[in-house]
Amino acid sequence: MENEVHKKRILSGIQPSGDLTLGSYLGAIKNWAALADEYDCYYMMADMHTITVRQVPADLRRHTLTQLATYIASGLDPEKNVLFVQSHVPAHAQLGWVLDCYTMFGELSRMTQFKDKSAKNADNINAGLFTYPALMAADILLYQADLVPVGGDQKQHVEICRDIATRFNGIYGDVFKIPEPYIPPVGARVMSLTSPENKMSKSDKDPGGCVYMLEKAEDILRKFKKAVTDSDACVRFDPAAKPGVSNLMQIYSVATGKTFDEIEREFDGRGYGDFKTAVGESVVELLRPIREETEHLLADKSYLESVYRAGAEKASHVADRTVGKVYKKVGFLAR
Ligand code: TRP
Repeated sequence: MENEVHKKRILSGIQPSGDLTLGSYLGAIKNWAALADEYDCYYMMADMHTITVRQVPADLRRHTLTQLATYIASGLDPEKNVLFVQSHVPAHAQLGWVLDCYTMFGELSRMTQFKDKSAKNADNINAGLFTYPALMAADILLYQADLVPVGGDQKQHVEICRDIATRFNGIYGDVFKIPEPYIPPVGARVMSLTSPENKMSKSDKDPGGCVYMLEKAEDILRKFKKAVTDSDACVRFDPAAKPGVSNLMQIYSVATGKTFDEIEREFDGRGYGDFKTAVGESVVELLRPIREETEHLLADKSYLESVYRAGAEKASHVADRTVGKVYKKVGFLAR
């Protein structure tokens, strides 16, 4: 890693709360794979965040391992990226607690994701759900990350991370690098197929709205055939007036490399039926090699173990240094 000291560092993570979606692939993972040469990249399975909502333990374990296999199958080379499981690196919990004490009740109360999630889980509004942004700040600050690739829904959490880091540095000197949110130059915000005004999400109540990366071809095709469009039977990019069609165009464009102009010409005078079938087929072809490679990797548990063990070791090496510094600054007696 000696010659990587000058590279900017990137950290991001996804919660293993379910199978990864086409939205996570096109909006995040696909772009991450291209960053490895230019940046020093850390990607985690954010399992500690996942338990803010009740999980079936066996499912959480399976989703975590499957997510790792899918990261690798999507082109995140474990030799070039540090791939790790958050709970394998105790520094996250250690710094998370310290940062809880430098995060204000008032600022946490303003987080829109907390308001949304507590409305959805009214019977389990636990303290972890509330302090989640302080743990996420720890995730980022532990690695002194320069850039945090996130979707729009996480920008507020990167903002509060910057506020917490600035507050801490204001008291103790330059302990943390202040990170920036990073929106990759190419990337897609994939919307639900059935309610295209909302982001495609694995927690979507309507299973038809969300396509999973490892889903069977016939299920993917069926979901695209049922995707919501509009009544003017014209394939044209206009997200405000035609959110459903524009979302499908966006997906088709990323899957095939065609521009919006080319897509409009291709489907000029043809119905939405043909268009939706073509989009579905392009997604099936895009995901097929990833699904096959993920299945192949999942059959080799000892390889996956070696990846996450090495990842935890590399991540701990960096993270423990930050915790050491922080513990000293706040006045904890050295052991
Ligand atoms: N909060 C993110 C989400 O729900 C996941 C996450 C946890 C994350 N820690 C992070 C993302 C640190 C970026 C950086 O999608």
